[in-house]
Amino acid sequence: MTIKTLLATTATLAALSTAAFAEGEVIGFSQIGSESGWRAAETTVTKSGAEERGYTLQFSDAQQKQENQIAAIRSFIAQGVDAILVAPVVATGWDAVLTEAKEAEIPVVLLDRMVDSDPSLYLTAVGSNLVHEGEVAGQWLAETVGDKECRIVELQGTTGSSPAIDRKKGFEQGIAGHPNLTIVQSQTGDFTRSLGKEVMETFLQAENGGKDICALYAHNDDMAVGAIQAIKEAGLKPGTDILVVSIDAVPDIFKAMSEGEANATVELTPNMAGPAFDALEAYWKDGTEPPKFIQTESKLYTQADDPAGEYEKRKGLGY
Ligand code: AHR
Repeated sequence: MTIKTLLATTATLAALSTAAFAEGEVIGFSQIGSESGWRAAETTVTKSGAEERGYTLQFSDAQQKQENQIAAIRSFIAQGVDAILVAPVVATGWDAVLTEAKEAEIPVVLLDRMVDSDPSLYLTAVGSNLVHEGEVAGQWLAETVGDKECRIVELQGTTGSSPAIDRKKGFEQGIAGHPNLTIVQSQTGDFTRSLGKEVMETFLQAENGGKDICALYAHNDDMAVGAIQAIKEAGLKPGTDILVVSIDAVPDIFKAMSEGEANATVELTPNMAGPAFDALEAYWKDGTEPPKFIQTESKLYTQADDPAGEYEKRKGLGY
C-alpha cells in the first residue's frame, strides 16, 4: 500500500467512524411555528439534514408560544435525547429550562434567534449578525435616496424577539447621519404576511394615502410581500412610489423584485442546522466545544442581481 492510499484509507475510516458514532442519535427540535416562508424552509432543511445524517428528529411546533417551547424542551429532557435544537421565539425567559437541560447534560443549540441567558447554559448558537442585517438595509436605503427627504415606515418582527430588536437597532444605525431619512411609523407585523398587509394599510391611511411615504423597511420578506399588496390596493406602485427593503431573501421577494415591486433584500440562510449538526458531532465525539456563536453570512441583493434567476434557483427549496 502506498503512503497516499494509506492516508486516504485512514481519512475514510475516520469519517466513517464519526458518522457511525453520530448515526442514530436522537435530537429534539423546538421550532417556533410557521409564520414565514423562511421559517418553513428552515424546518424543511433541518428535517432533511437530520435524515441524511441518520438522526431521529423529534419535531415540535410551538405555534408562536414560548410556553409551548418550554414544555417541549422539558419533554425532550425527560426522554433523555442526545441534543436539543431550539429557535427561541423571544429573547427572555429561558434561564430555568436551559439550566434543567444543562443539569441533565443535554447540549442545547440555539438556531437563528438569540436569548439573553448566560452563554454557559447552551453549547452554541447558529445565526446571522442581526444588527448587521438591519444596518445593511439602512445603508442601502441611505445610498439609494441620497439627499432627498425620505419618510420611512417600518414593519417590525415579533415583539421581544432578537431579530425584531436587533434589526431595528441596525437599521437605525444604518440611516444615522442622514437627517433627511426619518422613521415616521413603526409597528409590529409579527413576521407574517397577513399582518404585514394589515399594518401597512394603517400606515397608508395615516400617511396621506401613502403619498407621504418614501420607503418601507420590513424586518422580513413575508411582511414586505403583504405590504406590497396593500400598496397596490392603495393605487400606488411598490418599488417605485414606495421603495421596499426587507430581510430573508425568500423566493417570493425575488419574484417581486423581478417585477419591479421590491428593491432590496438581505439574505438569511435557512440552513442553520448544518453548522449545528457539525458542532454537535464534534462535541459528541470527543467533547470539542464549538465557539459560542457560529455566524452565517448576510448578503444584500438588489434588482441588479438577477432576481428572476434567484427566484428560479430558490423556488423548489422548501420555502
Ligand atoms: O428569526 C429569523 C426570522 O424569523 C426570519 O427573518 C423571519 O422570516 C422568521 O419568521
